[in-house]
Amino acid sequence: MQTFHHIIGLRKALEQHRQQGHTIGFVPTMGNLHRAHLALVEQAKSLCDVVVSSIFVNRLQFGLNEDWDKYPRTLKEDTQKLKSVGCDYLFCPDEHEVYPNGMDQQARVIVPSMADVLCGASRPGHFEGVTTVVTKLFNIVQPHKAIFGIKDYQQLAIIRRMVEDLCIPVEIVAGDIVREADGLAMSSRNGFILPAERVHANQLNKSLNWIAEQLIAGASDFYALEQTARQQIEEAGFKVDYLTICESASLLPAASDDSQMTILGAMYTQGARLIDNVSVELG
Ligand code: PAJ
Repeated sequence: MQTFHHIIGLRKALEQHRQQGHTIGFVPTMGNLHRAHLALVEQAKSLCDVVVSSIFVNRLQFGLNEDWDKYPRTLKEDTQKLKSVGCDYLFCPDEHEVYPNGMDQQARVIVPSMADVLCGASRPGHFEGVTTVVTKLFNIVQPHKAIFGIKDYQQLAIIRRMVEDLCIPVEIVAGDIVREADGLAMSSRNGFILPAERVHANQLNKSLNWIAEQLIAGASDFYALEQTARQQIEEAGFKVDYLTICESASLLPAASDDSQMTILGAMYTQGARLIDNVSVELG
């Protein structure tokens, strides 16, 4: 695996592949890689001739009071892990390479409405930071396919919309959620969960699954389901940020005749903010 810190070197290497007609798969990350990230790289490898992964802890998508400075940076281990799954190129630029004119002056990409609800409501500006950096990374790598995890359901939906609205020539591919044995979705932030809280940290997943079962069994009082699930999570000792039954494509609150629903939730432990989602197909 070759590592590039600068756009120019990466572009030169990829240009040769393009000339040979190779397809390029791309997996953007913020590092501190775990099994879920590596599964996305493996998926990219199964779909494309060449795989590029990026590691960049993008300050533009973190709020001022968020954990950008605490975010785990483990480049050496990450490099080994990417090599072990056959990643071909790693792009890990510094902030100046990505934002040469400074973040304040940076042109932005905004996906209205969808970016303002759920995680966007409690993390103002977060998705603008994501869509801006992902656009830049797409322009740098110019991949044929880019793989994003379903774990960050809203991010995936917003990126799909951005690609459609801006006619970006890339196919967005979804990667399944990878979980710990007890159902907790893998995340670089799981390391922040205090040991005493860890035993119950799968409650978010349990409650989302409980709602899914109720919906499949025909329950139709969405508000009551959401309230009960919130109560379950609070009783387990966590603070709910949001928990909503949404229509899967638009992320608007689900209506009773919707057939594709996704239940999305976020909760705070003392050490971390965790997100998860479960989708159901009805009728
Ligand atoms: P990061 O949180 O590092 O995640 C990188 C990719 O891994 C994302 O597509 C995310 O959805 C996926 N992922 C993380 N945990 C997962 C899990 N348990 N199961 C399946 N997929 C999982 O998401 C970002 O970085 C950033 O916002 C980024 C897109 C790189 C832009 O900065």
